[in-house]
Amino acid sequence: MIKKAVLPVAGLGTRFLPASKATPKEMLPIIDKPLVQYAVEEAISNGIEEIIFITSPKKLSIKKHFDINHELESILKDSKQEEILDKLNPEIFKEIKFHYVNQNEQNGLGHAVLQAEDIVGNDPFAVLLPDDLFFSKKSCLSQLIDIYKQTRSSVIAVNKIEKVNIHKYGVIKPGEIKEKLIKVEDIVEKPSHEEAPSDIAVCGRYIFNASIFKFLESTNFDKFGEIQLTDAIKKLLYEEEVFASIYEGEKFDCGSKQGFVHATITLALRDESISHDIKKIIKEIV
Ligand code: UTP
Repeated sequence: MIKKAVLPVAGLGTRFLPASKATPKEMLPIIDKPLVQYAVEEAISNGIEEIIFITSPKKLSIKKHFDINHELESILKDSKQEEILDKLNPEIFKEIKFHYVNQNEQNGLGHAVLQAEDIVGNDPFAVLLPDDLFFSKKSCLSQLIDIYKQTRSSVIAVNKIEKVNIHKYGVIKPGEIKEKLIKVEDIVEKPSHEEAPSDIAVCGRYIFNASIFKFLESTNFDKFGEIQLTDAIKKLLYEEEVFASIYEGEKFDCGSKQGFVHATITLALRDESISHDIKKIIKEIV
């Protein structure tokens, strides 16, 4: 039902400078896999058939990463390292159509999503922000798809945040709550601690009906010079119901240094091939 996913990867990644100067932030690895690949795998494992990257002309390595590298493949074949080939071109990527659309100016997340309009057309679609990393039995996107199937309304993933950190996120004003499903009454981008309508913040997974594009088109630049996705959702609320789904599972904000390191340590401790050594190293440090 949801066959297309938009992955905005055009941002400047200023919090990761200088690492993100020549290497896109989304290509930074957690252990041995770039952040963007975790999001692509989450999308594909939930039935997505077309991935639309909103990228920038400076981020060529993202396209290269998902293209077939014939030279490297033949070197690995010749040196009998075929077992690594599946890592290079995972089987699940074979049937997937990858699109690359340039966002020439970094005018914000809403502006980035708007660039996907022509390819998405009238279909409902998912948005995954690759710097939010999720691990759960049932993936974050899968939880949203379940809700979309019930409601046919746009639905966003949310989680509870400590009030001291609320100013970093989009925050919803909850209406009726049924278990993990919340009707969204209002939404604000990065409110102050005092103004926040709740402690329920948006995290980086969404499903939208194509009607969101109309509202993105009419959304003005905010005081930071960006077109915010949150502001378009606020407008959408005047015409349609929007739901929020409380995400159940682990979430790492890899757009921040703390979250990035947290995810790295967690996955290193789960990786059987290195966890023993990593535990030893951590013990020594602590
Ligand atoms: P972030 O705000 O976390 O990324 O956007 P950023 O702007 O690159 O990072 P900082 O704040 O400067 O450190 C979330 C996602 O949206 C994309 C980013 O690439 C990231 O994946 N994005 C953001 C765009 O594609 N275009 C934009 O104009 C802004």
